Amino acid sequence: MSQAIQVRGLEKSYKDLKVLKGVDFEVAPGSIFALLGSNGAGKTTVVKILSTLLRADAGSAGVNGFDVARQPADVRNSISLTGQFAAVDEILTGRENLVLVARLRHLKDAGTIADDLLARFSLTDAGGRKVATYSGGMRRRLDIAMSLIGSPPIIFLDEPTTGLDPQARIEVWAAVRELAAQGTTVLLTTQYLDEAEQLADRIAILHEGKIIVTGTLAELKQLLPPAKVEYVEKQPTLEDVFLTLVGTKDQK
Ligand SMILES: Nc1ncnc2c1ncn2[C@@H]1O[C@H](COP(=O)(O)OP(=O)(O)OP(=O)(O)O)[C@@H](O)[C@H]1O
Ligand SMILES: [Mg+2]
Repeated sequence: MSQAIQVRGLEKSYKDLKVLKGVDFEVAPGSIFALLGSNGAGKTTVVKILSTLLRADAGSAGVNGFDVARQPADVRNSISLTGQFAAVDEILTGRENLVLVARLRHLKDAGTIADDLLARFSLTDAGGRKVATYSGGMRRRLDIAMSLIGSPPIIFLDEPTTGLDPQARIEVWAAVRELAAQGTTVLLTTQYLDEAEQLADRIAILHEGKIIVTGTLAELKQLLPPAKVEYVEKQPTLEDVFLTLVGTKDQK
């Protein structure tokens, strides 16, 4: 298979508000791709279109080789989506949440699947406790674990660490890296530059309805010349690149 995700000329408006004005990008299988953009840039809109929750006005998108408009059921069987607000049940334990989802998906050995996922996401000790007692990071890890039941080849994480403290973010990052290491393709959206910097094999910046730049971190950094500070060469950070490209920072 060529690309895990292929997006061509995607357009979407909400009434008079044109949010996507021709979005193009590709995600290689088994890689982590970060869609970076400010609040309201249209990141969730892209994720909703790719996960068949929303129809594009124009353009095309392929997910796992299936067209989102013509083969939505095949796309849904290929993906899982973890939104910004965790979908876990507070009253159940972590393990019960996992068993429930495995049963809903008609999988055999729901208990074994649950135990394996608890181990993979460092939740074995907490597995027997009600989710109501979990920290934000534990909930988000459980949420990601739940979305992996049935082993979808592609996972969408919409702002996986928004609202988490630094320690919890590091835990979630480790879980995401673990996913990619096992061959899952990850598309994540974020407004945190360091998150993209830490996790992504490739980064795309969505701004004013279009992808204004795509590349590896090293490629993005090369877009700006290193600023000379006295005798020390200072490499631009991803933040410098981002702010310069979206026009809120003058290039020095
Ligand atoms: N159902 C809707 N009806 C009308 N406008 C919408 C709807 N959904 C999103 N929008 C608008 O479209 C724009 C893009 O929204 P979207 O949620 O895709 O952005 P985002 O990049 O995910 O932002 P955030 O970082 O805040 O999550 C915003 O201006 C938003 O207000
Ligand atoms: Mg969003």
